[in-house]
Amino acid sequence: MPPLLSSLSLSVFLFLFFFSPACLAHNITRILAKHPDFSTFNHYLTLTHLAAEINRRQTITVLALDNAAMSSLLAKQLSIYTLRNVLSLHVLVDYFGTKKLHQITDGSTSTSSMFQATGSADGTSGYVNITDTKGGKVAFGAVDNDGKLNAVYVKSLVEIPYNISVIQISQVLNSAEAEAPTAAPTLNLTAIMSRQGCKAFADLLIASGAKDTFEENLDGGLTVFCPTDTVINGFMPKYKNLTAAQKVSLLLYHGIPVYQSLQMLKSNNGVMNTLATDGANKYDFTVQNDGEEINLQTKVITAKIMGTIKDEEPLVLYKIDKVLLPRELFKEAAPAAPAPKSTKRKKATADSPEADAPSDEDPADQTADDQNGVGRLDGGRLTMVTVALCLGVMVFL
Ligand SMILES: *[C@@H]1O[C@H](CO)[C@@H](O)[C@H](O)[C@H]1NC(C)=O
Ligand SMILES: *[C@@H]1O[C@H](CO)[C@@H](O)[C@H](O)[C@H]1NC(C)=O
Ligand SMILES: *[C@@H]1O[C@H](CO)[C@@H](O)[C@H](O)[C@H]1NC(C)=O
Ligand SMILES: *[C@@H]1O[C@H](CO)[C@@H](O)[C@H](O)[C@H]1NC(C)=O
Ligand SMILES: *[C@@H]1O[C@H](CO)[C@@H](O)[C@H](O)[C@H]1NC(C)=O
Repeated sequence: MPPLLSSLSLSVFLFLFFFSPACLAHNITRILAKHPDFSTFNHYLTLTHLAAEINRRQTITVLALDNAAMSSLLAKQLSIYTLRNVLSLHVLVDYFGTKKLHQITDGSTSTSSMFQATGSADGTSGYVNITDTKGGKVAFGAVDNDGKLNAVYVKSLVEIPYNISVIQISQVLNSAEAEAPTAAPTLNLTAIMSRQGCKAFADLLIASGAKDTFEENLDGGLTVFCPTDTVINGFMPKYKNLTAAQKVSLLLYHGIPVYQSLQMLKSNNGVMNTLATDGANKYDFTVQNDGEEINLQTKVITAKIMGTIKDEEPLVLYKIDKVLLPRELFKEAAPAAPAPKSTKRKKATADSPEADAPSDEDPADQTADDQNGVGRLDGGRLTMVTVALCLGVMVFL
């Protein structure tokens, strides 16, 4: 390799290395994995889905509890939803490194926790009081604990200024509000969609009964791609032509039974099964990102993700610009040939009455995609190397 080229590619790698989001993000699970005394706390951060919430935030302090402190909390036998509230009180949405903790302006502050920030807490509960006390101690207490600061700073585990600080405190912060019994959050999927420009899709889910299948997957993880109202309205004539069972399959085709954040979709390009997948009826599609843009390719059409309606693990809802047409129900698009609108395609079209389905597909788009194929592959390989580098460095750290 000529020296210029190799130094060029080195700088490309370094650029990708430092600017790839995969590298910037902290990962609380990985951070705590190096501290076996905190394995229970780490396990419950994952189980309550708080780990994902922590990783998503930029400026955060985790008040970590060691296995002994966790076992006294677990002895209370709180439900997983209540446990989530208690643990979210231990995640401060501000950065407190050791130095800042010992030098609090006026010796005392009250700071917002994730329990407060997610709207689960009423009034002032959800705030944590941090006070410097004599002998160089730092005391912590929930503001709704009658002024009692029941925990103290023990040690710092990790500080990455000003992104994430993980410090050990002596025991669980007492808070009647956080420990109050909580029912499973009642997420109204169709109501959320309706408020965000996907009412037509939500109405179809309700009318067809497909809504129930979506809701059954809420706890375990669910990703939904909602075509916007204008898209659904334009599609209605074709929708009405489907049998009841086909309608349900088409709607279920818009959900995948796992949580996939945008970042995960970008790094997990490839075939995805859907809620409609049933043995030989594959009902799958391919996720492929093109730079920042994420495409869903069904072989009949290619839809784009337009935005996020809601992202709160285990549920994520995206808006898409086309109805996803499964090849099990609609005619596959003819392979993009250099000659546009060839007679071959016309002939293929004539074979099936459903053949007019791909009319809302843009053939020019497909051709462009194919031409970019090689470039994208290279991009993909670069990303793989970058991720590998990141992982390597993370492991090394
Ligand atoms: C964080 O690290 C854990 C353990 O190394 C890994 O299983 C998980 O996928 C990582 N999460 C993200 C978002 O990278
Ligand atoms: C924190 O709690 C201490 C002890 O109850 C109290 O004196 C102090 O005023 C509180 N600080 C804030 C900022 O509320
Ligand atoms: C902290 O987060 C910011 C914003 O994502 C990033 O630019 C910076 O590199 C991060 N710092 C460290 C030390 O990871
Ligand atoms: C969910 O919201 C819809 C409106 O989209 C409403 O008709 C329905 O009654 C709500 N369901 C529950 C269980 O609250
Ligand atoms: C609906 O199906 C009929 C009969 O198969 C066909 O003639 C018609 O073009 C279809 N309409 C649409 C909008 O697909």
